[in-house]
Amino acid sequence: LSPELVRAAGLIREIPDYPEPGILFRDITPLLTDAAALKATTEALLAPFEGTFDVVAGIEARGFILAGAAAIAAGVGFVPIRKAGKLPRPAASVDYALEYGTATIEMHDDLPAGTRMLLIDDVLATGGTLAAGRQLVEQVGCTVSGISVLFEIEGLGGRELIGDLHTVFHS
Ligand code: PRP
Ligand code: MG
Repeated sequence: LSPELVRAAGLIREIPDYPEPGILFRDITPLLTDAAALKATTEALLAPFEGTFDVVAGIEARGFILAGAAAIAAGVGFVPIRKAGKLPRPAASVDYALEYGTATIEMHDDLPAGTRMLLIDDVLATGGTLAAGRQLVEQVGCTVSGISVLFEIEGLGGRELIGDLHTVFHS
């Protein structure tokens, strides 16, 4: 990691027992508020994927922040993958498991079949969210050309579930 990225990693705050007892929450907001850290991490998310994607897709809510920044930095458009009920014309939806219960994500299909999407989220834990996001992109006929995540929490099975992905920081 470059010195700038090492400094950025130090701006990810660990919050014990949030949002529930036993959970160690990774709060990226101090990193986001630091201009140099935001720029360096956005560039690090994109670095392995130059020239391999047509658009960036981000997963609501925290994924939107980094995916929007990455889309602008890469000079491409942005596709929102949203929690159910937020998009006016959802073309596909995928249910996935959370620690307690289930959730659903949806997306539009405004781009041509075969469009190459770089899928971005903030954190990889169990991988359930990104697996659902990948499935969703494929359901609308597009291709996931890469998956890029800011922070990987190891030991929860995410990497095993997702397979090939790029993560900037890890636990
Ligand atoms: C969080 C985080 C990732 C996901 C990772 O999202 O932003 O999207 O959990 O967990 P997983 O790998 O076990 O699926 P969450 O839906 O909790 O909230 P958000 O709307 O703030 O992004
Ligand atoms: Mg999320």
